[in-house]
Amino acid sequence: MQKIVIVNSKGGSGKTTIAVNIASALAKRGENVALMDLDPQGSSMRWLKLRPAELPAITGIAGFRSDANLTRSFQLTPPPETTVLILDTPAGLDRRGLEAATRGADAILMPVMASDIDIHAATHCIADLLLGGKGASMSRRIGIVANRVKANSRGSRRLQRFLQNFEIPVVATLRDSVNYTRSAETGLGLLEMPRW
Ligand SMILES: Nc1ncnc2c1ncn2[C@@H]1O[C@H](COP(=O)(O)OP(=O)(O)OP(=O)(O)O)[C@@H](O)[C@H]1O
Ligand SMILES: [Mg+2]
Repeated sequence: MQKIVIVNSKGGSGKTTIAVNIASALAKRGENVALMDLDPQGSSMRWLKLRPAELPAITGIAGFRSDANLTRSFQLTPPPETTVLILDTPAGLDRRGLEAATRGADAILMPVMASDIDIHAATHCIADLLLGGKGASMSRRIGIVANRVKANSRGSRRLQRFLQNFEIPVVATLRDSVNYTRSAETGLGLLEMPRW
């Protein structure tokens, strides 16, 4: 089972958007996907509830909910047939929280938006990840997703300069598009929406 964890301590950077879109894209491709929501806001689970039943199924695990009848480790174990586990994490995780959430991850994706505040926060989050997770082996597993990038804007140039400072690859660049908001409202992934 592959484990993909989406992190950024900064709120509103696009963690849930990326988690649900990767989940739907992989389910569409035939993977057996489990989506675990560690955020008490429950946005990923809300998206999953809106998801039309005829679309490829995704197993939801509300990791933030503590159930008195289940031990926490059992509750957080995905079904045995799961081939990809995606973790959506909350904002505000400190070094220990980041370490716990990313333990055993095959890939760690960090969405970063192109504003000064977001770039500054991302620097701290990357430092926390590297310090908490044994340096080199950790950095090889991290990929940055430049999010809400407006082509040729000052913000996007600043983001590109910032990203060049790290030996961490930018694995995707997502433009600012209302389609991501629509996707959140409908339980669909971008690839499952009509071609417009
Ligand atoms: N590429 C994009 N284009 C347009 N809107 C976007 C994009 N990415 C995210 N958004 C919007 O930005 C808002 C925040 O995104 P999202 O909820 O995914 O962030 P988050 O990191 O999960 O936030 P939180 O830290 O509160 O959990 C949402 O309204 C979402 O629809
Ligand atoms: Mg979220």
